[in-house]
Amino acid sequence: MNLLPLVVRLRLVLLLLVTIQIAPTALADAKKTPAIAKPTLGVDVKSPEYCGACHPRILEEWKSSEMGRDLDNPVVYQFYTATNARGEKDGRGYRGKHPDKAGECADCHVPDLVLQQHKKTAEDVDLGVAMREKSDHGISCYFCHTMSDVKTPLGANGKYPERIFQKVTQDPRRRIHGPRGKTGKEFHPSGTVKGALVKSSQMCSACHLNQEENVIAISTPLDWEKAVKDGHTTETCQGCHMPLHSEAVEVAVGQPKRIGVRSHVFPGSHDKTLLEKALDLKLDAGVAEGVVTVNTIVENVGAGHRVPGSGPIRHVLLKIDVTDDAGKPLAYAGDPKGLLPPLAGMGNPQTKQRGPLDWAGMPGRFYGKVLASAVDPKTGQRRMGVGGFDAEIIAVDTTLEPKKPDAGRFQFKLDPAYKGKVNVSAQLVYRWSYKPLADSKGWKLEDRPMKSAQATVVVGG
Ligand code: HEC
Ligand code: HEC
Ligand code: HEC
Ligand code: HEC
Ligand code: HEC
Repeated sequence: MNLLPLVVRLRLVLLLLVTIQIAPTALADAKKTPAIAKPTLGVDVKSPEYCGACHPRILEEWKSSEMGRDLDNPVVYQFYTATNARGEKDGRGYRGKHPDKAGECADCHVPDLVLQQHKKTAEDVDLGVAMREKSDHGISCYFCHTMSDVKTPLGANGKYPERIFQKVTQDPRRRIHGPRGKTGKEFHPSGTVKGALVKSSQMCSACHLNQEENVIAISTPLDWEKAVKDGHTTETCQGCHMPLHSEAVEVAVGQPKRIGVRSHVFPGSHDKTLLEKALDLKLDAGVAEGVVTVNTIVENVGAGHRVPGSGPIRHVLLKIDVTDDAGKPLAYAGDPKGLLPPLAGMGNPQTKQRGPLDWAGMPGRFYGKVLASAVDPKTGQRRMGVGGFDAEIIAVDTTLEPKKPDAGRFQFKLDPAYKGKVNVSAQLVYRWSYKPLADSKGWKLEDRPMKSAQATVVVGG
């Protein structure tokens, strides 16, 4: 028998000690839990730290990823519990709309807990409680690597399955599914299998396809399928979001370094390089009869799905600035449709004071999928930019399909007597939340640059 390297055995022993100490408080039912857990049951084989005892590099990568941080993500917690960054209830979020229902938010955020609870009771898991009490490990190694199948058939009602337990089959023997499947029992006591799922985009559809009651809030896998069919990409989700390590790396402690190993950092919209690669921006400008005309073309050249590639509050903004030699902005004189919508930021609703990120009303284009609520009886209007759980319709969808260029045209007034340079600048930025939502929640929003372009027109030279 292969003996475990000493360092690994020590790590597992340490883990065991730690687990014994925290187990009684971590488990909810104090009466039934013995004061000291049985040592043989003490190791929580579902915890990422357990896997990390032998896979430390992967544990570190995963911890730095959005999925690895999800259980501690305050934005998820606040959007579920309908509280703001100061901890006050504000009604904006799932429990604001459904105060008496735990709902399905836990499905993709603490998936293993939901699957286990579903076997025992029809009651849903409260995501807020699960995050506060850390009663699960979130989007964990164990969850991803014990899935044996994911099915997302389009139903006769025109909808995809909504619940995780309708989509995911867990290996009944909890064997570890991996790309090679040759690891010995001394390492994975439940066994190891070579799984087709880990190589397939279908694995990601378990959560990245989000069918809500009335709308599909996240459609990335469907958009990817279309991109493949249209010949725009041959990559899987893993191909772009689990890039290959450029050098040979260790998969587990004490094993030889291997080539062809994929990263668990899962770069996405937080990754500068990936964001810069996604879009192409072309800009030209001309002057005729006292009017400056600016033409833009934005094209999705780097993503295997629409951009922005995900949830309903994500969006991309193109902003156009035109100034004269003295730096004075020229007045917009084009189609009002060429101005950015309120979701781009209106400033403080009380004081009307605007900040540098409040772009509504400025020349530019908005790329996003905006969900709208049912008509509010009080105002007679729909609320725009809501979450999937609150949505009745998709109000606008201007997300960029791969290789489908989007053309913009903007016109500005120029004093007919003006001589000198006209400076045109265009910037494309990614925002993970609508500015008004971020303001009301107290979330810090920053612009993530995607592309920029400049042009100069000389007038009366
Ligand atoms: C079908 C799976 C699924 C369900 C159900 C689900 N989510 Fe998510 N959620 C996701 C995925 C996938 C992302 C990541 C999308 C991205 O990064 O663009 C996400 C992202 C989020 C984010 C953004 C976090 C950030 O830092 O930007 C919030 C907030 C959120 N979810 C809250 C909720 C709430 C509240 C519910 C219940 C109404 C819910 N989720 C239900 C899959 C799901
Ligand atoms: C979101 C799902 C997901 C999560 C979470 C996840 N993995 Fe993976 N992991 C994958 C996929 C997919 C692959 C296969 C990549 C490929 O095609 O080679 C993989 C591959 C691996 C491999 C094999 C690497 C190789 O090339 O031999 C190991 C080991 C591994 N994961 C361990 C872990 C550990 C440990 C964690 C937690 C710290 C973890 N994984 C978290 C999806 C996941
Ligand atoms: C006692 C050490 C040990 C622990 C604990 C451990 N693994 Fe592994 N694992 C290994 C070794 C050794 C390999 C083989 C590495 C190699 O071939 O280079 C491996 C390989 C893998 C692979 C790739 C299998 C394949 O098909 O190629 C995956 C996936 C994986 N582990 C996931 C996990 C997950 C998830 C956990 C926690 C639930 C875990 N491991 C816990 C030692 C361990
Ligand atoms: C158990 C559900 C689940 C599975 C399975 C899953 N994801 Fe995720 N993923 C999420 C959630 C939820 C988030 C958002 C986490 C957050 O922001 O707090 C996310 C975030 C991401 C992000 C970060 C996006 C950003 O904006 O930076 C990427 C990239 C990603 N997932 C890729 C994948 C890939 C590739 C797969 C398949 C190999 C996969 N995911 C499988 C639930 C899942
Ligand atoms: C050809 C490469 C490619 C493929 C294939 C691909 N992506 Fe992406 N993905 C990107 C790029 C580039 C971005 C950054 C632009 C953006 O945010 O939309 C991105 C962004 C994302 C994001 C963050 C989106 C956001 O706006 O927050 C998620 C989540 C994601 N991809 C998931 C997936 C999933 C799931 C699949 C498979 C169904 C997939 N991707 C396939 C390249 C790819």
